[in-house]
Amino acid sequence: MESAKTRWYKDAVVYQIYPRSFADSNGDGIGDLRGIIGKLDYLQKLGITAVWLSPCYKSPNADNGYDISDYRDIMDEFGTLDDWKEMIAGMHERGIRLIMDLVVNHTSDEHEWFKQSRSSVDNPYRDYYIWRKGRGKNGKRPPNNWTSRFGGTAWEYDETTKEWYLHLFNTKQPDLNWDNPKVRKEVADIVKYWLDLGVDGFRCDVITYISKNVLEGGKLPNGKFNPIQQGDEHFTHGPHIHEYLRELNVNVLEHYDSMTVGEAQGVTIEQGLLYTDESRRELDTIFQFEAMEADCWNQIPTTFRLPKLKKIFGRWQTGLFGKSWNSLFWENHDQPRALGRFTGDYGEYRKEAAKMLAVATHMQQGTPYVYQGEEIGMTNYPFKSLDEMDDVLVKTIRKMGLFKALPFHNTILLKVMQRRARDHARTPMQWSAGNNAGFTEGEKPWFVINPNYTTINVQEALADPDSIFYFYQKLIGLRKDPKIAPILKNGTYKEYYPKHKDIYVYERSFEGKRLLVVCNFKNKTVPFVVPNEIAYVGTEQVVSNYSDSRLGNVDLRPYEAFVYLLK
Ligand code: GLC
Ligand code: CA
Repeated sequence: MESAKTRWYKDAVVYQIYPRSFADSNGDGIGDLRGIIGKLDYLQKLGITAVWLSPCYKSPNADNGYDISDYRDIMDEFGTLDDWKEMIAGMHERGIRLIMDLVVNHTSDEHEWFKQSRSSVDNPYRDYYIWRKGRGKNGKRPPNNWTSRFGGTAWEYDETTKEWYLHLFNTKQPDLNWDNPKVRKEVADIVKYWLDLGVDGFRCDVITYISKNVLEGGKLPNGKFNPIQQGDEHFTHGPHIHEYLRELNVNVLEHYDSMTVGEAQGVTIEQGLLYTDESRRELDTIFQFEAMEADCWNQIPTTFRLPKLKKIFGRWQTGLFGKSWNSLFWENHDQPRALGRFTGDYGEYRKEAAKMLAVATHMQQGTPYVYQGEEIGMTNYPFKSLDEMDDVLVKTIRKMGLFKALPFHNTILLKVMQRRARDHARTPMQWSAGNNAGFTEGEKPWFVINPNYTTINVQEALADPDSIFYFYQKLIGLRKDPKIAPILKNGTYKEYYPKHKDIYVYERSFEGKRLLVVCNFKNKTVPFVVPNEIAYVGTEQVVSNYSDSRLGNVDLRPYEAFVYLLK
């Protein structure tokens, strides 16, 4: 059959919703689908053309929905399938497509398949998961040395059958066995079920982990020593991954006008191309996280360095050019807020800094993603103690006592998490200066609300013509502007001053039309010299975050950013 793909995602701007923290409609303190329905006009006003919805399926919430117990139904706290249908209809009416989260590396341990699977060694579902005998005399040592991404061994002993199951994340997230054709068929059926309900695409959770390196006789080899992620080389981009992804695409996805974006931690450009080169028919796009490492190493915070970030951006911009397509983002539900992280101490320049960051990515080639709250410049939460944090990752590390060997281990862990915790992105959306930031009319939101909601909130942003919100609206609008959109979509990428440690300058060029993008990442004035190549050409301002920006040899003001069309 012919592929039905129009590759609409190349013109899209996607807004990510983390439903638990977006908007609560019934006062129980938990965001829900009717809450989203109530905010569709807001999303339309922002101008985004697609939503990526983090998981809303049935789940015991060991990892806030990333542990699914029924793939075909909605989590009770979020509403019903009818609410969901109303939500997607409301999106489609407004020209907004819906990308659902597809979490199929693992299920919840409360999924019916796993309940069956763990019940006996000859249950028909046994092979849906990855079970092995333990090592040592009584099999009481895990089958190999792989570690969970959340810390500790990746294996859990199960008393009923006296074997171990693999879980690359929490013990309540057993990994599916993709080598079993029945599992692949189940996944294909789930994907088809949602596509038939009108879904437009999928964000594929930790998709690079689905194929494990199984040796003759079923053995899973030990990984080389790595204090943080052991075993990685045996399950990231595993032996059959490309075959399985192509199978899913060719059999199901490409018969719909759908798109996929795969979460691909630690991927190189070469690997990225294997996943997304259009001729290979696997995934459409991926998220790569290299840029997220410009201020940390293996989750350990380091000093942010702009030249490192620019190099990463440049490599991906040129590396995928003409072959596949980038995903552009600063934030998601697993990352701390970008403000402060990539802009240092922004002080009174929060708005300028937030707008500058938006310019830096939105003018690149690829599909921009905006994470809820980013469009109003939400910031990290001032956590004072580890007890305030909700994330299963933090809880697991604490339970395991991973840092115990270090003096002041709790202080160190707190320091690390104050910068790195995923919780920063998960505090409720700040809608107004009213009670509970307008997130819930109930008494108690499920999670702490950032005390700065009295000044940073949607109500304030909508009332201020100079707000971050309207700036995003303008940038998003450029993707539909006949003069600018073709350059953004098709233009080449060229950088000026790549080694400069404070400013980021690049040019996009298409059919003789060029865009020059200038961003000052510093909280102070930085001199800028117009590159020789573009001196003496006619210019027209496209966007800027100061009312009187000028393209010339100027002192860029704190976080000043502008884009000019060169003629
Ligand atoms: C992805 C999700 C993250 C989740 C993990 C396990 O990385 O983005 O939130 O914890 O997968 O499903
Ligand atoms: Ca609710």
